[in-house]
Amino acid sequence: MPAPLLKLDRVTKSFGTNLALSDISLEVNPGEVLCLLGDNGAGKSTLIKVLSGVHKPSAGTVEVEGHAVTFDSPKDAGELGIATVHQYGGTFPLMSVARCFFVGHEPTKGFWPFRYFDKKTAGDITVRELQKLGITRVTDGNRLTGALSGGERQSLAIARAVYFGARVLILDEPTSALGVKQSTHVLRLIMHARAQGIAVVFVTHNVTHAMAVGDRFAVLIHGKKADDFRKGERTREQITDLMAGGEAMAELEAELAELTGPVRQP
Ligand SMILES: Nc1ncnc2c1ncn2[C@@H]1O[C@H](COP(=O)(O)OP(=O)(O)OP(=O)(O)O)[C@@H](O)[C@H]1O
Ligand SMILES: [Mg+2]
Repeated sequence: MPAPLLKLDRVTKSFGTNLALSDISLEVNPGEVLCLLGDNGAGKSTLIKVLSGVHKPSAGTVEVEGHAVTFDSPKDAGELGIATVHQYGGTFPLMSVARCFFVGHEPTKGFWPFRYFDKKTAGDITVRELQKLGITRVTDGNRLTGALSGGERQSLAIARAVYFGARVLILDEPTSALGVKQSTHVLRLIMHARAQGIAVVFVTHNVTHAMAVGDRFAVLIHGKKADDFRKGERTREQITDLMAGGEAMAELEAELAELTGPVRQP
């Protein structure tokens, strides 16, 4: 068995006395989607930040292909092919779509000191890569990123990660601000990346979205891994209950049944 592409081994992260992550072990392999589920404050974003080099773990290790790594910055993670797309796409509203696509990888023409950003090539590549992902309304690389819809911006960030050779694509709540149609689109992008052998870590509150694309699942509660399982091993109800804390959900249902019961006559 080859070592997992990305692995967390007993990772703990504390902020002062606040224990955001406690003893988390996870792994993800090429061509696999790992869904990270959990309620607000469960530690999902913190975990993503450890994986992407924003935070260093307080204890435990991050391993890439079996080797322990220490990321001093997101750039270090990026160099190993770990690309993270944050909720609003990590794009820059005042930059053109093409600039945004090529931030850090600008194609240049001419020789130093006369090098300049090759707008035409950048624009053509950006539009082409977006079209591959089904975004056909962006036909001009000079358009401002801020004028794109949430889903289009999300697609731009995913397209650039894939184009620049991401091996691990981490998406923190990519569908939470999106409509039904755009969410479906992001789910399609995830499946597209998976088919290309990319390992995807997909953070979401939405059990339906997770079940649609996930191969493996982990549920975080108060910074701890409450459960992990593979596709088909749990029902939707079991996952929802676990996320909400089973008892709380049963209580709420009883309360709601009372409130929505027949209207009492005076
Ligand atoms: N930089 C920080 N400094 C101090 N505490 C932090 C920091 N980042 C996160 N925390 C704390 O860690 C805990 C987990 O936060 P985190 O953002 O990881 O949750 P989350 O699961 O992503 O929640 P949400 O679903 O709301 O995005 C919270 O209690 C939060 O207050
Ligand atoms: Mg979060």
